[in-house]
Amino acid sequence: MTTATEREVLRDALGLLRDREQVAERLLESSAKHSFDPDRELDWAAPVEDGKWFWPPELVSLYDTPLWRKMSEDQRMELARHEAASLASLGIWFEIILMQLLVRHIYDKPVTSNHVRYALTEIADECRHSMMFARMIQKGGAPSYPVPRIYHNLARVLKTASTTPGSFAATLLGEEILDYMQRLTFPDERVQTLVRGVTRIHVVEEARHVRYAREELRRQMVTAPRWEQHLTRLSCGEAARVFSTCFINPQVYTNTGLDRREAVAQVKASGHRAEVMQNGAKRLTDFLDDIGVLRGAGRKLWVSSGLLAK
Ligand SMILES: [Fe+2]
Ligand SMILES: [Fe+2]
Repeated sequence: MTTATEREVLRDALGLLRDREQVAERLLESSAKHSFDPDRELDWAAPVEDGKWFWPPELVSLYDTPLWRKMSEDQRMELARHEAASLASLGIWFEIILMQLLVRHIYDKPVTSNHVRYALTEIADECRHSMMFARMIQKGGAPSYPVPRIYHNLARVLKTASTTPGSFAATLLGEEILDYMQRLTFPDERVQTLVRGVTRIHVVEEARHVRYAREELRRQMVTAPRWEQHLTRLSCGEAARVFSTCFINPQVYTNTGLDRREAVAQVKASGHRAEVMQNGAKRLTDFLDDIGVLRGAGRKLWVSSGLLAK
């Protein structure tokens, strides 16, 4: 005999499962219509265009700082080229972590469900994205920029041991802020055609990933035990701090002939940069606030990351 409360819990759980399947079904339909093969879709043989930016100047870390005002236009464009390579490297790092998180997420789930099928579709998207970003870095001629060793290893722990809600919160962090920048990049006519193509493909396919992660995180924050919800708040805040630290590899300043220390200090002090980063995080922080992830000590970590205004 089941009690009324037990029946209610069961009904809620079934409702969540149905919702999960419906979301995945819609995402699969959209994937069937709008997926791209970057190797064929983009003209990789076209020469680099003179006088065009690799990244919109307003999204370059030093924009509007005293150092920026002293730099020649050529040096600014050079920094933008290196920052585009640094962000693409960060993107690949994130995507490789995400692929592992998704594989772990579906390991125990029914293999014929829409939810699992969509996760596999997303992994396939991320495989193509990482190859596309690597090709874009090579084409631009700037080096790839790995994250500092300590964060590289910290992420090794996260991708191996994180809880499900923690994984999806970290996923959204990686996807939404880069997405904000890419939405401003692909329509920008001052930017290299190849970079515009790469960012356009990424924006279209990431919209589905964001939806999948958001819906799953929303469900998880309702069903996860309290200790897990609490851990998610903390780990998400810590991930925000690491993310903002790793966002641009400071080696880009050295490689463009700037004083690394001075450049890092000016980026930290830049009101414009703080605004760009907070605007980039806004959609995400509003959502996380709404589902109860931005509370207590976790919220303080977000503020210290610079991605959330006090
Ligand atoms: Fe991606
Ligand atoms: Fe993604």
